[in-house]
Amino acid sequence: MQHVEVAVIGTGWCGGIRAETLSRSALVDKLHICEIRPDRLAEVKAMTSPASATLDYQDIVKNPNISVVYVCTTPEQNHYPITRDCLKAGKHVLLEKPIAMELWEADELITLAKRGRLKFTIGYSQRFNPKFAYAKKKITDGTLGKVVSVMVSRHLSRGLGAKIAKRVKLSPVVMESTHDLDFVFWLLEPAKPVRVYSQGAYGYMQAINGSYDVMWSIVTMDNGMMVTVGGGWNLPPSYPNFCSTWIEILGTEGALVLDDTHRDAWLNTVAEGTRFPMSTMPGEQVDHVFAGQMGPETIHFLEACIMDRPVMVTPESARMVMETYTAADLSAERNEPVELPLSNAALSAVAEMVGGKR
Ligand SMILES: NC(=O)c1ccc[n+]([C@@H]2O[C@H](COP(=O)([O-])OP(=O)(O)OC[C@H]3O[C@@H](n4cnc5c(N)ncnc54)[C@H](O)[C@@H]3O)[C@@H](O)[C@H]2O)c1
Repeated sequence: MQHVEVAVIGTGWCGGIRAETLSRSALVDKLHICEIRPDRLAEVKAMTSPASATLDYQDIVKNPNISVVYVCTTPEQNHYPITRDCLKAGKHVLLEKPIAMELWEADELITLAKRGRLKFTIGYSQRFNPKFAYAKKKITDGTLGKVVSVMVSRHLSRGLGAKIAKRVKLSPVVMESTHDLDFVFWLLEPAKPVRVYSQGAYGYMQAINGSYDVMWSIVTMDNGMMVTVGGGWNLPPSYPNFCSTWIEILGTEGALVLDDTHRDAWLNTVAEGTRFPMSTMPGEQVDHVFAGQMGPETIHFLEACIMDRPVMVTPESARMVMETYTAADLSAERNEPVELPLSNAALSAVAEMVGGKR
């Protein structure tokens, strides 16, 4: 069996999950971890027994034995420089979403990966949700007929929302509905988005980072299909879920409704009342089994590198999602639909908006 040396840069929440998953895999020869917070580095080191643990990601970049890197850092502004350095050093990279902050950065990363014949993917973990894989299968095999519309409603707890919103001024469509735009565009391939109309509403989060509490976006596809995604992050602290999602897919021959509200496991304690465990978006390791998407996604990328198989999420598709949520931000700001691909005029309007708002 082929073994490889792998690294995780940024071992916070998601990077910690990736590192733990990799530490359990027979495909991993040596695991290396990197984290700028010494206390967290020590914690993940104790959990994963890596071959090396460093505070400086250049140690990973400069190590020629490491062939696969997972970039899981925040704030999101450092996704581009760290991934650029890893790709330039000839490493295959899984980068957490978003692919970049600016479209030109995404383009440069895509070019570097192509030039180096490297695997490069973005962590859109929801494609590894068995329910969404089932939807893809039922759309592809014709069970639903011609798909007419897809609706996704996703809400996070305000605790999680505040964590995300404090580190970077990005909207709910950029930070949250991004997952839904990704998996819905994947379901509807080869259709492409051509128009976006988006609206946002202020509430609890405005005082924290000036962001909307909820954003709804209607995306028209080039074959007329309609995609509606709503994302919010203001569920109250006592809400028993971390994340709750409802999906409706309507076709000419059938409809598929997916309940991803995570209300299937109930925990009730005197101290905390009702909780729905295992309800975060990435999921979590539960003793010998991974409950959720991020574990299988981590191993899928490793196998794609070792076996030279295609990655599940191409960086080009992540760029299309980025262009769509960028258009959604502009649409909400202007109160009017925005056409895709973005025109030069729209791109400069986005640049002005980014300077002033994000
Ligand atoms: N796929 C999913 O379901 C999912 C869920 C949540 C978050 N995410 C994405 O994953 C990324 C990580 O999110 P998180 O919640 O784990 O964040 P986090 O803040 O918990 O962890 C990020 C870690 O990166 C570290 N870091 C920052 N700069 C670094 C550097 N130069 N070198 C090494 N370490 C560095 C930080 O100290 C921190 O511990 C985000 O971009 C987020 O958008 C994806």
